[in-house]
Amino acid sequence: MKIISNPLELKKYLKSNSKIIGFVPTMGALHEGHISLFKEARQNNELLIVSIFVNPTQFLHGEDLDKYPKKEEADKKICSLSGVDILFFPHAQDIYTDDEISLQAPSQRGYILEGYSRPGHFNGVLTVVNKLFNIINPTNAYFGKKDAQQLHLISLMVKQLFMSVNIVEMDTMRESDGLALSSRNIYLSQDQRVEALKISSSLQVAFGMVNSGILDTKKIVKKMREKLNSLEIFYIEALSRDFKPLTSIIIGNSIILVEVKVGTTRLLDNIYL
Ligand code: PAJ
Repeated sequence: MKIISNPLELKKYLKSNSKIIGFVPTMGALHEGHISLFKEARQNNELLIVSIFVNPTQFLHGEDLDKYPKKEEADKKICSLSGVDILFFPHAQDIYTDDEISLQAPSQRGYILEGYSRPGHFNGVLTVVNKLFNIINPTNAYFGKKDAQQLHLISLMVKQLFMSVNIVEMDTMRESDGLALSSRNIYLSQDQRVEALKISSSLQVAFGMVNSGILDTKKIVKKMREKLNSLEIFYIEALSRDFKPLTSIIIGNSIILVEVKVGTTRLLDNIYL
């Protein structure tokens, strides 16, 4: 595995390369969720590139940028064992200067849900993913449905800016008890982890209702709220797959998204229906 931190060096290295490139952008603290993306990308591409970059522009002031978990040595080992060909590991100064062009998330879909709780967050995500795509020029790029709004906005960016990368959507990996894997789960105490299980079970409640023919989103959200009532709820929303409000679930074109705070940790989850 080659480790490169300089974007121009990576570009130069890839210039003479005409291989099919699979790319997985990450912020490190790698877990089985990330690894599932690496595996899929490894199988379907000639060259596998992973980036690890805790992108400062997607953290708002006062957020956990400095505290974001860092596990450099373990991450390198995981990448190497996952068959990664190139690990791109830049520093902030390799990616950003002091006076920057940036992308703006769309004013509606970029400022609801996660974008409402964290205004400007998706500007940072889109800006860095755009830079990473320009450095690597991947054939396929892999993103998790766990971050459904991020995935949607990246797909919109690719479509609206006529980019040629193919976005591959990957299912959410979970612990055996249902908790969605997240780099932030390490912040949870044992008791908080038990509380956090209510998130996936609330989504199972929604799934059960839809299966039994209850499609009214108000009724579904109400039941989910009851299940989550001991937690601080940022949002529970039922939306179409292009992130427009829904009064009734349309099977095959709906997502229910949840964000709650357990202790001081924000946790996201969702279900595609
Ligand atoms: P990060 O949180 O490290 O996630 C990297 C990728 O792993 C994302 O596409 C995310 O959706 C996916 N992922 C996280 N948890 C997952 C799970 N339990 N199952 C499946 N996939 C999962 O998302 C980011 O980094 C950043 O915002 C980034 C896109 C790298 C831009 O900075």
